[in-house]
Amino acid sequence: MTQPANPPEPLHTRLRTATAEAHEALERDLDWQERVATLPGYRALLARLRGFHAAYEPAIALGLSDEAFFAPRRRLAALDADLAALGLDSSTRAALPAPPAPRLEGEGAAFGALYVLEGSTLGGLVIGRHVGGLHGAGVPLAYSSGRGREAGPLWRAFRARLDGLGAGQEQAAFAAGVATFEAMRGWLTTAALG
Ligand code: HEM
Repeated sequence: MTQPANPPEPLHTRLRTATAEAHEALERDLDWQERVATLPGYRALLARLRGFHAAYEPAIALGLSDEAFFAPRRRLAALDADLAALGLDSSTRAALPAPPAPRLEGEGAAFGALYVLEGSTLGGLVIGRHVGGLHGAGVPLAYSSGRGREAGPLWRAFRARLDGLGAGQEQAAFAAGVATFEAMRGWLTTAALG
């Protein structure tokens, strides 16, 4: 008698497994505790993240074609608010370097890339608590902690949408997830940080 096949794991679970190594590499190489130990270091890290979001958010928006879903997940404005509070005026912010924009063709690729940015809000909470404890109440934390109570619901709603993607989108989501992690690691850990 043939055994019934196990139901496939949800896409989110498989994407987490497929990108686990890339997450570990990023977390290891980021050296974030050292970098946020001083306010100029914290500002430099946020400046680098701003460039990444400036390049990736428009590409993700295009691939998703669902602004109502994406709007509350945009974080460029939060990065700008933090950087402004740390003394960077708008023309300096707009001139910050950014990586090449990714090619995200279709919903699967856009969701794979957005998975990385949405997941980074979870690690961001850890970083935000650390930075707040280190530099005191006045330190701007819109990027890392700005979602407040919305963080949990936004993450759960994201996972539900991810799990609902059609089977034809899955390979594109895996590939974009790994590529986005690698691009972020390259961008945030290159020598010339400013
Ligand atoms: C900016 C770089 C980072 C990116 C892009 C990133 C990405 C991700 C992603 C995609 C997830 C979701 C995993 C899942 O599917 O459940 C995640 C979860 C998480 N990350 Fe990171 N991460 C980053 C940095 C960090 C750092 C530096 C830490 C440590 C302070 C960290 C700690 C965590 C934690 C605690 C979770 C939640 C794990 C769970 O609740 O299951 N991350 N991150």
